[in-house]
Amino acid sequence: MFERVREDIQSVFHRDPAARNAFEVLTCYPGLHAIWLHRLSGWLWLAGWKWLARMVSNFGRWLTGIEIHPGAKIGKRFFIDHGMGIVIGETAEIGDDVTLYQGVTLGGTSWNKGKRHPTLESGVVVGAGAKVLGPFTVGANAKVGSNAVVTKAVPAGATVVGIPGRIIVKADDEVEAKRQAIAEKLGFDAYGVSQDMPDPIAKAIGQLLDHLQAVDGRLEGMCSALKALGSDYCAQELPALRDEDFDDVCKGLDDKPAA
Ligand SMILES: CC(C)(COP(=O)(O)OP(=O)(O)OC[C@H]1O[C@@H](n2cnc3c(N)ncnc32)[C@H](O)[C@@H]1OP(=O)(O)O)[C@@H](O)C(=O)NCCC(=O)NCCS
Repeated sequence: MFERVREDIQSVFHRDPAARNAFEVLTCYPGLHAIWLHRLSGWLWLAGWKWLARMVSNFGRWLTGIEIHPGAKIGKRFFIDHGMGIVIGETAEIGDDVTLYQGVTLGGTSWNKGKRHPTLESGVVVGAGAKVLGPFTVGANAKVGSNAVVTKAVPAGATVVGIPGRIIVKADDEVEAKRQAIAEKLGFDAYGVSQDMPDPIAKAIGQLLDHLQAVDGRLEGMCSALKALGSDYCAQELPALRDEDFDDVCKGLDDKPAA
């Protein structure tokens, strides 16, 4: 049990930069008090002491403003920051290392019995005021933005914001890494270029880099084949791009008035 409490305290230090010492965490974090009371109420619930379990859960709500139904299943290192106004329904399931902020509801949208609350897989973060409603799964390490209302399954690793919740599409990391590699090979900083440019231009450059990479791959294949046939055609280095050649272009961009 003490090991579990130690883990709970550590999880606060990992996820709240404001936490200063163990005594402060033990005494001033309602999220921890709510979790400990939930462990007691959950044990009573499973032991068949349903009313007592509900009473302990209700006491936890008075004390912390966090309402966790005794039937909810919660994994390790669960962290509730700030607490207050949190509701976790009876059939909610929460994996390890999940974080909730104040005002989150893990609720249902029907009055049917059976599974009606969400399942949050490990590592999920749900921002302040967000509502996750229904018997679907929020995949591992997904993030729900503050004040979002989510009513459909969320894939692992995705970020959902808004009402109704929509997934933020970020550039594919693998594609970005390939673009970066080919840009470095050519001798210019693709990151710097695409960060500050208007979207259509950045997109066009990205596509050009993708195309260049495909051409580069094919040329390398041809060179290997030629080398195997005894040719030294590809032995010579290609001329490098020189920074000075881009000076005029960059100057033009700097001079451009802000839109
Ligand atoms: C959703 C969240 C995890 C996104 O973080 P991120 O991956 O770093 O994403 P970004 O900050 O780069 O934002 C990406 C886009 O989503 C938008 N966005 C971010 N959070 C949003 C939210 N909660 N609601 C609506 N749009 C949001 C941004 O404006 C940005 O839009 P743009 O691409 O049009 O400029 C984060 O914004 C969030 O809400 N975290 C919860 C934090 C919280 O509740 N803290 C409480 C502390 S007391």
